[in-house]
Amino acid sequence: MNQTSNHPALRPSNPLAGRIARGTLIALAIAAASATVATVMARGGGGGQTKVPTTLADFFQPGTQPDPSGIAVAAIETSLSCTYCHSGYGDQVAPYDTWSATLMAQSARDPVWHAAVAIANQDANIGGETCIRCHAPGGWLAGHSANGSIADLQGDDFDGINCNFCHRVVNPELGANSAIAYAGDPASPDKPIISALAAEGLLPAGVGGARFVIDPASVRRGPFDDVPQNLHGAEARLITSPFHRMSEFCGTCHDVSNPIYSKNRKTGQYQLNALGAAHPTQNPADMFPEQRTYSEWLQSDFVNGVAFADHRFGGNDADGVVSTCQDCHMPKVIAGGCRFYEYGPPFFERPDMPQHSFAGANTWVVQAIRNSMLPEEADQIGLGQPAVEQAAARTIQMLQNGSDMTLTQIGSSLKVRVTNQTGHKLPTGYPEGRRMWLNVKFTNALDQVVAERGAYDNTSALLETADTKVYRADTGLSPAIAKLTGLAAGIGFHLAIADKFYFDNRIPPRGFTNAGYQSIGSAPVGYSYADGQYWDDTLFVAPAGAVSATVTLYYQTSSREYMEFLRDTNTTDGTGLVAYNAWVGAGKSAPVAMDSAVIALSAANPADLNGDGVVNASDLALLLNNWGGAGVGDINADGVVNASDLALLLNGWG
Ligand code: HEC
Ligand code: HEC
Ligand code: HEC
Ligand code: HEC
Ligand code: HEC
Repeated sequence: MNQTSNHPALRPSNPLAGRIARGTLIALAIAAASATVATVMARGGGGGQTKVPTTLADFFQPGTQPDPSGIAVAAIETSLSCTYCHSGYGDQVAPYDTWSATLMAQSARDPVWHAAVAIANQDANIGGETCIRCHAPGGWLAGHSANGSIADLQGDDFDGINCNFCHRVVNPELGANSAIAYAGDPASPDKPIISALAAEGLLPAGVGGARFVIDPASVRRGPFDDVPQNLHGAEARLITSPFHRMSEFCGTCHDVSNPIYSKNRKTGQYQLNALGAAHPTQNPADMFPEQRTYSEWLQSDFVNGVAFADHRFGGNDADGVVSTCQDCHMPKVIAGGCRFYEYGPPFFERPDMPQHSFAGANTWVVQAIRNSMLPEEADQIGLGQPAVEQAAARTIQMLQNGSDMTLTQIGSSLKVRVTNQTGHKLPTGYPEGRRMWLNVKFTNALDQVVAERGAYDNTSALLETADTKVYRADTGLSPAIAKLTGLAAGIGFHLAIADKFYFDNRIPPRGFTNAGYQSIGSAPVGYSYADGQYWDDTLFVAPAGAVSATVTLYYQTSSREYMEFLRDTNTTDGTGLVAYNAWVGAGKSAPVAMDSAVIALSAANPADLNGDGVVNASDLALLLNNWGGAGVGDINADGVVNASDLALLLNGWG
């Protein structure tokens, strides 16, 4: 699709004209039918909202296309067909035993996702189509996404991003990292697949958007070239795939772009495409950048590897250097690749068996999914309570490895530095409802709390945001899309039609540059980081009488505001209420402490603003810099830096 021009006058009326692609023909037929539906139903539910009248064609993207027949592209097999050999051995090392209790395995059962897809369909006609492509790729390939509705998913579609799917992903780029067939087949097994797609104009360029290329046959593609014996049956070829060790493999889905928008190169704003046709350039860089985890990584030092002296990432790794997504999210363990290694040769224990733990940041949804089932049902899909708890413990450990915090006293202020140790922004990924914040408790000589900043109430799930730093990304609607839909302009949770980042102060990773992040559509918004800066500082003025401070950095997956939105905005079905109740039942996404530390505060001369032991011109500069503001320079702690503070500073001069 990359050949078509961005210029409306040059754009062919039918972007697929001249090309007969299997799958796209089906898509077009359905699109024609649903275009009529869209005009009829354009006025969607509550509050006179006008649904964006998108059609299936608007969501078309290259890559392997759905094949409902399962003839040209073999249906994705259930993970249960792998358990006999790839589960039930070792302690939390077998692929199935770790994968099953992760968000990747549960991506299609996730109640928050169900609720968000309902909103997507309210906001844009068939808006859920693209969501299903990435969260339930088996169902998408089986052709169950044409209405964009979860209600059309069935049976194994709920197996999420599973074994058979991932182990059939093909590197879309032919070259040094192409796959090699088992038993010395010299020809790359990728070539015929790539050539066929290219001939249909379906070869994706650029990483992301779930524009995956799937091996049409039910093969087993994996990293190892020394598997002693293929026990998968004659039809299931074993293929050595270097792609499975590359970040691009994960980037296929961990870079999310909304194809209904195009970037206006002059203004930098995003505008709705002419509807009823596929995205004119199909270049992810021209689409609205909802998630940029892979691109953030690509624009970081991790591309070349980063050494951690404390070996906090990578598992059984000799040198402590990590680079790829897999290095950190699939740490190496000493284990067999299948259960037969326990019986000895020809199978053997590997020192670098990738653990399928995919630990990220979500601490409550997997437990909520188990809670929504009968215990024996949950046990059958690998969601036994111990597995769920072990996965949650790994996630908490991951969060704690993700940041470091240091506290210093500067004059009468407390400086809190948070350093991002991850390979992307902290936090990264899904923007809606996710946040990280600083909680500070100042205590006096009697060990009583004299003041608290960033207070969070576990019962109400309400956070005091006004007096602390909250790390987050706020997306929302520009005035243009607000006018079209009748919704309010500004920050909001309408993911499927969001066309603007209103705020983004998430901390960049090592190697950050403003130009690099500008180029991937992920520069800070309403906040600034200098090139190379992968930490952030916050100053808190210590109140009178404070002799120590306890500071905690918290992460929360799903805020109350987001969950209430999913419940209250839903005018179509019960999924919003189900998600909200699941959230309440699982403890309202209890915040996780990523770092916590205590500092003793010495009674400093409050006029020595930079804490260097002398009141001089640099303190004066700090005060003048913040004139009229709060915080630094507010020597008398009356909430504003003004003439009385200046007088105090001059009094203590020298
Ligand atoms: C009858 C037993 C059996 C079943 C069932 C089975 N596998 Fe395997 N698989 C093995 C053995 C044995 C190995 C080799 C392990 C080793 O060498 O460490 C293996 C290796 C693999 C590899 C690694 C290939 C490489 O080159 O790195 C992948 C990927 C894989 N299996 C995927 C699957 C998937 C997906 C399923 C289910 C659809 C599955 N297997 C079902 C026995 C099985
Ligand atoms: C087919 C698309 C797809 C591919 C390929 C994919 N992911 Fe994911 N991943 C997802 C989706 C969708 C979710 C979120 C599911 C949810 O929250 O409901 C997810 C969730 C995750 C999470 C958990 C996030 C959290 O909040 O806890 C991690 C970690 C992760 N993926 C890492 C990886 C890594 C590493 C790879 C490559 C080895 C990878 N993913 C490949 C689609 C994909
Ligand atoms: C240096 C180690 C490291 C690398 C490399 C890395 N991650 Fe992460 N990732 C982390 C840590 C630690 C966390 C937990 C803290 C957080 O939420 O960011 C995390 C969190 C995540 C999350 C959940 C984020 C959220 O807040 O919801 C996703 C999704 C994810 N990573 C995907 C990826 C993908 C995809 C790649 C490769 C492009 C990657 N990671 C590379 C360490 C890493
Ligand atoms: C998100 C994609 C993804 C999913 C889902 C997934 N895998 Fe993997 N798997 C990978 C990647 C990537 C590697 C190689 C990682 C590396 O070496 O750094 C791998 C490696 C393997 C290996 C090679 C290890 C060895 O010793 O032979 C086996 C076996 C395997 N997977 C089986 C499975 C099974 C069984 C499931 C389902 C329970 C599964 N995988 C689910 C991505 C996935
Ligand atoms: C190209 C892949 C992709 C597409 C398309 C996609 N997502 Fe996701 N989604 C992800 C990934 C990856 C994550 C996990 C990131 C993280 O945890 O930070 C995620 C996370 C989420 C979450 C958070 C789930 C939770 O438990 O907190 C929701 C909700 C969600 N997506 C809704 C949607 C909706 C609605 C759509 C369609 C409008 C959609 N997604 C389209 C990849 C995708």
